[in-house]
Amino acid sequence: MLCQTDELASGEARRFDVSGHRIALVRVEGEYYAIADRCSHEDYSLAEGEVWVEEREIECPRHGSTFDLITGQPCSLPATHGVAVYEVEIVDGTVSVVLP
Ligand code: FES
Repeated sequence: MLCQTDELASGEARRFDVSGHRIALVRVEGEYYAIADRCSHEDYSLAEGEVWVEEREIECPRHGSTFDLITGQPCSLPATHGVAVYEVEIVDGTVSVVLP
């Protein structure tokens, strides 16, 4: 379990450490996305970056690459590699992530 659904506002991201995985949980309107909290360019925390609500991307705060919240793929340079994404489950208002 990561948090309750109402603990995150739309456009907000928060870091969680779960069983050795650094995860950025992102809310966009009623959807929740879990993406590895580690930019593939230089290991910065994506949870500290800006969420691009319309594009469903998150921007690395260090050099500005954005990552697709659904696929984890970079949408702009300098990052060229994707980051892991995780399945999110919501049960009774509780947000959980499914680890591989
Ligand atoms: S560290 Fe993320 S784009 Fe460079």
